Amino acid sequence: MADDTKFLWLLLLRSSLLCSGSDLDIQCLKTVKQSLIDPSGILNSWQFDNGTSGYVCSFSGVGCWNPDENRVLGLHLGNLGLEGPFPGGLQHCSFLTALDLSGNRFSGPLPENISQQIPNLSSLDLSNNSFSGGIPNMTYLNVLALQRNQFAGQIPAQLGNLSRLVSFSVADNSLSGRIPDTLQRYPAANFTGNPGLCGAPLDRKCKKRFRLRIRIWPIRIRLRLHRINDASRIGAAVGFVAGFVLAFYFPHWFVFSERLRAHVFRI
Ligand SMILES: *[C@@H]1O[C@H](CO)[C@@H](O)[C@H](O)[C@H]1NC(C)=O
Ligand SMILES: *[C@@H]1O[C@H](CO)[C@@H](O)[C@H](O)[C@H]1NC(C)=O
Ligand SMILES: *[C@@H]1O[C@H](CO)[C@@H](O)[C@H](O)[C@H]1NC(C)=O
Ligand SMILES: *[C@@H]1O[C@H](CO)[C@@H](O)[C@H](O)[C@H]1NC(C)=O
Ligand SMILES: *[C@@H]1O[C@H](CO)[C@@H](O)[C@H](O)[C@H]1NC(C)=O
Ligand SMILES: *[C@@H]1O[C@H](CO)[C@@H](O)[C@H](O)[C@H]1NC(C)=O
Ligand SMILES: *[C@@H]1O[C@H](CO)[C@@H](O)[C@H](O)[C@H]1NC(C)=O
Repeated sequence: MADDTKFLWLLLLRSSLLCSGSDLDIQCLKTVKQSLIDPSGILNSWQFDNGTSGYVCSFSGVGCWNPDENRVLGLHLGNLGLEGPFPGGLQHCSFLTALDLSGNRFSGPLPENISQQIPNLSSLDLSNNSFSGGIPNMTYLNVLALQRNQFAGQIPAQLGNLSRLVSFSVADNSLSGRIPDTLQRYPAANFTGNPGLCGAPLDRKCKKRFRLRIRIWPIRIRLRLHRINDASRIGAAVGFVAGFVLAFYFPHWFVFSERLRAHVFRI
């Protein structure tokens, strides 16, 4: 074969590889590898210089839909001593259904649009890491394991609307607020270890909110107290309002100088 023809064949082969949809999956894995810290070098086996169809399927932790196709079905990277933020590039793994990062030292927040980035994800296991920040809205999950992290804030009520969610845990985080009604079907053990969480299925009752609304025309005062038995706060509020009313209607009780009183009355 003439050198020219060889070159043409190479070019054709190359462009056909570049155009296949699974190139995005390779891009995904490259970006994931780059974005995480791997002190024990577990992912050194991820070498991207083999052009064979399906070569990424032999990478440790990578599961493919079909062993002959570079199309990633699942990433199973549990207990590998990995560090860093939530990995980037996952939006290129368009067919990813399972992501397991459990038992590592990942930290920082999850992307707020994680559901748009990995829309076909059905199983997400981030347990036993140091992820923090709020829990974002997610869709279509069967399994959501967030236990043993540092997630904070409230549990989004929308999570309970995941009708296919068969396994759910947020135990041992820093979550707070009332557990959404729709999530009460999960066992209490899967909510424990969050000092600020309250409501069923936990025994800890949510404190009733007590509102004090006072109107003194033209001023409206609205106080929202979190604990009905917080006598000192109520006392302070009532005292403040009473003082205000008295000062408004009987300013001379408060003003002892004659000159000042005249001034006050003129207004
Ligand atoms: C490419 O990967 C395939 C599948 O893992 C393997 O059988 C083959 O030996 C690799 N080829 C090279 C050149 O590394
Ligand atoms: C989700 O997966 C289906 C096949 O199961 C595929 O047709 C679809 O393109 C995927 N969605 C995205 C956004 O890639
Ligand atoms: C959590 O991960 C650490 C490593 O980061 C491991 O030593 C520990 O056994 C794990 N705990 C559980 C309960 O999986
Ligand atoms: C998600 O948000 C990031 C930054 O906030 C943005 O760069 C990215 O394009 C978004 N991805 C999707 C799929 O919406
Ligand atoms: C989550 O979804 C709910 C209902 O769709 C919406 O009200 C809320 O703003 C969303 N939160 C975030 C952080 O996107
Ligand atoms: C949950 O779904 C119901 C019915 O589909 C809807 O009315 C409600 O607004 C949803 N709640 C949230 C928080 O998305
Ligand atoms: C409760 O959490 C455990 C993990 O700690 C999980 O295996 C189990 O499936 C969860 N149960 C339910 C009903 O979601």
